[in-house]
Amino acid sequence: MARTETPVTFLRSDYKEPAFTIKSVDLDIALIPARTIVVNRMMMQRSAGSQNQPLVLHGEEQELVSVRVNGEIIREYELTPQSLTLHNLPDNFELSITSANAPEKNTTLMGLYVSNGNFFTQCEAEGFRRITYFLDRPDVMATYQVTLRALKNDFPVLLSNGNLIKQEELGNGWHSAVWQDPFPKPSYLFALVAGKLQAIQRTIKSQSGKEKLLQVWVESKDLDKTEHAMDSLIASIKWDEERFGLELDLDRFMIVAVGDFNMGAMENKGLNIFNTKFVLAKPETASDVDYGNVESVVAHEYFHNWTGNRVTCRDWFQLSLKEGLTVFRDQEFSADQMGSESGRAVKRIEDVRVLRQVQFPEDAGPMAHPIRPDSYQEINNFYTVTVYEKGSEVVRMQQTLLGREGFRKGMDLYFKRHDGQAVTCDDFVAAMADANQKDLTQFKRWYSQAGTPRVKVEESFVSGTYQVTLTQSCPATPGQDKKEPFHIPLLYRLIGDSASSEQLFELTESSQTITVPGLSKKPVLSINRNFSAPVVLDFEQPESELLILLKEDDDAFNRWEAAQKLFMRSILNGKALDAELVSALRAILRDAALDPAFKDLLFTLPAESYLYEQVSVIDPQAIHQARRQVRGQLATALQDDWLWAYQEHQTPGSYKPDAKSAGKRSLKNLALNMLADSGYTKTDDIAFAQYQSANNMTDQYGALAVLVNFSLSHAQACLSNFHEQFKSDALVIDKWFALQATRQIDLQDTSAVLTNVLALRKHPDFNIKNPNRARSLIHAFCMNNPGAFHQPSAETYQFWAEHVIELNHINPQVAARLARALDRWKQFAPNYQVHMKSALEFISKQMNLSSDVAEVIQKALNS
Ligand code: TRP
Ligand code: ZN
Repeated sequence: MARTETPVTFLRSDYKEPAFTIKSVDLDIALIPARTIVVNRMMMQRSAGSQNQPLVLHGEEQELVSVRVNGEIIREYELTPQSLTLHNLPDNFELSITSANAPEKNTTLMGLYVSNGNFFTQCEAEGFRRITYFLDRPDVMATYQVTLRALKNDFPVLLSNGNLIKQEELGNGWHSAVWQDPFPKPSYLFALVAGKLQAIQRTIKSQSGKEKLLQVWVESKDLDKTEHAMDSLIASIKWDEERFGLELDLDRFMIVAVGDFNMGAMENKGLNIFNTKFVLAKPETASDVDYGNVESVVAHEYFHNWTGNRVTCRDWFQLSLKEGLTVFRDQEFSADQMGSESGRAVKRIEDVRVLRQVQFPEDAGPMAHPIRPDSYQEINNFYTVTVYEKGSEVVRMQQTLLGREGFRKGMDLYFKRHDGQAVTCDDFVAAMADANQKDLTQFKRWYSQAGTPRVKVEESFVSGTYQVTLTQSCPATPGQDKKEPFHIPLLYRLIGDSASSEQLFELTESSQTITVPGLSKKPVLSINRNFSAPVVLDFEQPESELLILLKEDDDAFNRWEAAQKLFMRSILNGKALDAELVSALRAILRDAALDPAFKDLLFTLPAESYLYEQVSVIDPQAIHQARRQVRGQLATALQDDWLWAYQEHQTPGSYKPDAKSAGKRSLKNLALNMLADSGYTKTDDIAFAQYQSANNMTDQYGALAVLVNFSLSHAQACLSNFHEQFKSDALVIDKWFALQATRQIDLQDTSAVLTNVLALRKHPDFNIKNPNRARSLIHAFCMNNPGAFHQPSAETYQFWAEHVIELNHINPQVAARLARALDRWKQFAPNYQVHMKSALEFISKQMNLSSDVAEVIQKALNS
């Protein structure tokens, strides 16, 4: 977050071992919102071969009070806004530093800050240096003892990592707590929480029979929304024991919810801190999607305890080592929680949709980077869908190549070799390769080359011999003009040839051919089944064959994929869906053997952001309208079927968040949308009735969304009612803002959404300092409503620029996320580009841009 005029670029190739290590840390923190005092005693050790080197500690936004070496005050040091340098040090010594910071003024939400009167920390990636001077890098691992002191009335609960070893009354209304974490950890995993919080707790027995105390800490008003998070935690603990033989290592594991948070959640050792959005859930306020997100984020952070904490990253270029692997683990966990094979496919499709909608554009834009980047200006900008979601795909491909058992062997070896260490992506792949005697040298290009590979598929069928030629390529990305061939695992099956079963083909050359002789007729190729590789297929498969895949493929993913391709062709070519396709779709909608959740995904058209990637010049309004055209046809042609689906998928009785009931609700609410889209006149009343009688958020919000998006007559009244009903529940008010920011545009009045957003910006409930609220209005409008945001005029882009600038001064991370909205500006038609470019330039001319925003804007302008 350093505010520098000339940006500093950090290179992976510059890695050097630290000149000093820190064996143990003893923190004593007096928590006062205006001025918190931190006394930090560290046992330091000079590394071999670093004689005469100074000690350069990181430190930001602190007031240095004193420095002591072995108890003696030191007055000779160099202090800059980012560092503290000490010279002439012995090989082993105690370093004691006292400093102060101002948590209540900290709007960046990095380091120590105050949210709603309570203290929280966020140290990943480089937040610990805002709390004390330190070697704030992940390869410096120490054991921590932490003494927290505070006024007991204001801060009755004092939490930190590890085990509580002492609590004391100190007089004058003060009290203290001492926490000890037995596991050495990097500073980014440090955490403290202090304030008025309450917990639900449970004790469980882990695999080896040990008792574990589990707690979920929230503000007292939220205690009735903690059960689902607790259930998810228990399920995660069990799953990691069963699937990977990994047990919880601490006696106590805590989750804490906070309303002001930059991202989803943080895996601090034994003390996970969560955005309230990913903890709190009860039927009346959380949707099925929210329930699913709570489950997967709780799992994600818990799984980090092994993949991230016990084995951590050597440096931040290795971020995907922990994030890609942990996303893979949480995706697998969530898939298993679905409870059926078809449920697993639903989860897979959802994950691939995210990858294509967000990661593919990133991989094709100015911020493209390999999952293990070679350089960065601001590490916070590299917590990306590439590092996380593509990183997960790269781990998944290793499982596909090695098989589930082989992958497990690799994981076992990884922990056997590296438990307690800070390692690299190379170490991970080496464990996989060595445990299976498989050469993964070429595979490792997935770690070093950016861009989404394309695989061209060409078929021939001559006198009984079927041939398919696969040719790979990868577009240039910033700094990488030429790419070497990837090692691409492609699952495929020839349909129509009864003898054929699913095969794995390892595409390693630029071009390879598969030959199958002795066939009586040309088979239909089902390839990249279950999305076995994160690639784009250039495959002009005839419509008649796609129709066969849609009807018959035994791979649920490719069945869905066939529908997506057919829809996409129709949208991009501006032609209507033909009668045969419509009747096949009707049969699918009515097929009792298929999961409602699968049907919901099948009938959801490709997102606009994914459609943008299919054309060389983006005309966003043309794409928006073409997509609506096709959806309108689906709605109208199947109107009777949607009515049937709506009635058939009701879930009477008390709310249950399980996958089966959630699937029914999602299809039912899609049906309601389709009925509205078809112009079915009773939709207004049906939606209003659903809104009024709903006993859960999915149904209440689902109905409200239809009323608002189609401007039905009950829309305004229900919007006001919704606000009134939930005005004291921040997460629901976020939904209220987001719905209006993402509402479908009126094609006759395309600026109405902006007008509404500008009014909401002045609403008393809007608070730009709260990231969830800022995202619910500003990011939602600029990033999740392409039809409304991308207009061939200056207004919306100027709105975007002004908010990037405003947020830049408050919270650079939240600002930099918003700044990504114009990444792909070069791809847009000229009448959009001009306005985008001036908005980008307007930001770039501002003084005091954070390194976060500066990096994003510069890279966009230089593309
Ligand atoms: N490591 C966290 C996760 O993926 C995410 C994270 C990184 C984060 N940096 C953060 C969260 C800053 C909040 C703020 O689980
Ligand atoms: Zn993570």
